[in-house]
Amino acid sequence: MANSAELTVDGKSFSFPTLEGSEHEKAFDISSLRDQTGYVTLDRGYKNTGATQSGITFLDGEEGILRYRGYSIEDLASKATFLEVSYLLIYGELPTAEQYETFVNSIRRHTLVNEDMRKIFDGFPVNAHPMCVLASLVSAMSAFYPDSHEGNGNTDQHIIRLLAKLPTIATWSYKRSLGHPTNYPKNNLDYIPNFLNMMFALPVEEYKVDPVVAEALNVLLILHADHEQNCSTSTVRLVGSSQANIYSSISAGIQALWGPLHGGANQEVIEMLEDIKADGGDVGKYIDMAKNAKTTGFRLFGFGHRVYKNFDPRAKIIKKAADDVLNKLGVNDPVLEIAKGLEEAALNDPYFVQRKLYPNVDFYSGIIYRALGIPTNMFTVMFAIGRLPGWIAQWKEMREQKEPIGRPRQIYTGATLREFVPLENR
Ligand code: SDX
Repeated sequence: MANSAELTVDGKSFSFPTLEGSEHEKAFDISSLRDQTGYVTLDRGYKNTGATQSGITFLDGEEGILRYRGYSIEDLASKATFLEVSYLLIYGELPTAEQYETFVNSIRRHTLVNEDMRKIFDGFPVNAHPMCVLASLVSAMSAFYPDSHEGNGNTDQHIIRLLAKLPTIATWSYKRSLGHPTNYPKNNLDYIPNFLNMMFALPVEEYKVDPVVAEALNVLLILHADHEQNCSTSTVRLVGSSQANIYSSISAGIQALWGPLHGGANQEVIEMLEDIKADGGDVGKYIDMAKNAKTTGFRLFGFGHRVYKNFDPRAKIIKKAADDVLNKLGVNDPVLEIAKGLEEAALNDPYFVQRKLYPNVDFYSGIIYRALGIPTNMFTVMFAIGRLPGWIAQWKEMREQKEPIGRPRQIYTGATLREFVPLENR
């Protein structure tokens, strides 16, 4: 017998169908709630509200499970390349050798950005935050590829352009902020070495990609690739549900990711750890400040999560990678020890344990990015490069599922009807 949920309101009973996903997540289908009862639901921050049915990413916040299209994040991070994972997320299956070669070569041949985009780029102040530049230039791509919003575009072509050009655009900001010449992509380099070369090569000397750095970045980008209906992904889906083009939708996602409570946390974490170091490394003081957040206004960035209430499986992998990468690179970063001390102190403090506040994906990632030579204000850009295939996959699924335009309701709490008072009488 199909399950249903019974609701009694104002003395009347109503029945709503329930549904269960492939991993046994359960939901009430309340599509007819307002028509039947005149009521809407209220769920600030959507903690209890499913916006869609999706076959892309499964996560279990209690068990610390994360899978892309059924493959565990642990398997993918240790055995796959970032472009293999990108193909998997977007097209639903791991690519065959032939599909992979076509995909990689298509991306390779679209890494150049239209030179006219430089004029937009050059209009920014040199110290513009790279996330602002990235979101603006990705949005501008819809002007350079107008078929993206004229309905007759080839979505796969736009997907290739986004994956291919984001690293190029991202490195422009960094090089310009240093007053260095920007680098062009090289077709003889793979995806991540190409990004590193554009980031760090200088015309005055040969740049050699360190395989340790390239491998660490491959893991980090895979770990960031998708995370079901998080804030920025929900933004991409909502914007795309109005039939806005893919570039505008992804640009909106970049803007949402920038927020310090979301992807912007990785930059905040390093700045917080540096503050603790400058303040003598007294982690207890900052734990106390976080516990009195209501008076201090201080949050322990990199801790807590909307969904993970046990541990963030990505944080576990990144923490181990941080040790490995710093040892291989011979980097001794005192901030790593402070981070471990902070984690240790927090995980033994009732305030954090009761609120299930554990390190999230952003807590250790910045330490690795810094060891790889990536500047702090580029950390969230790295998150965006990693999350791009997830945003694309979710946008594509939303369109293929023909999702209706997203339009939540509200409970109005403002003034009730009142007469207009002419200016001379006010
Ligand atoms: C990402 O959704 C995703 O999947 C996101 C992401 C992805 O891959 O897309 O995983 C990436 O965004 C990771 C999160 C990065 N953000 C941070 O590290 C910022 C610091 N963390 C918090 O601001 C907070 O934990 C959130 C926003 C991440 C989660 O907020 P919740 O679950 O809504 O928790 P809350 O704000 O309701 O807080 C619950 C309690 C509160 O205390 P009480 O009111 O119960 O007394 O926990 C406290 C909060 O004050 N709290 C913290 C805290 N986070 C929550 N106290 C100190 N430090 C913190 N970091």
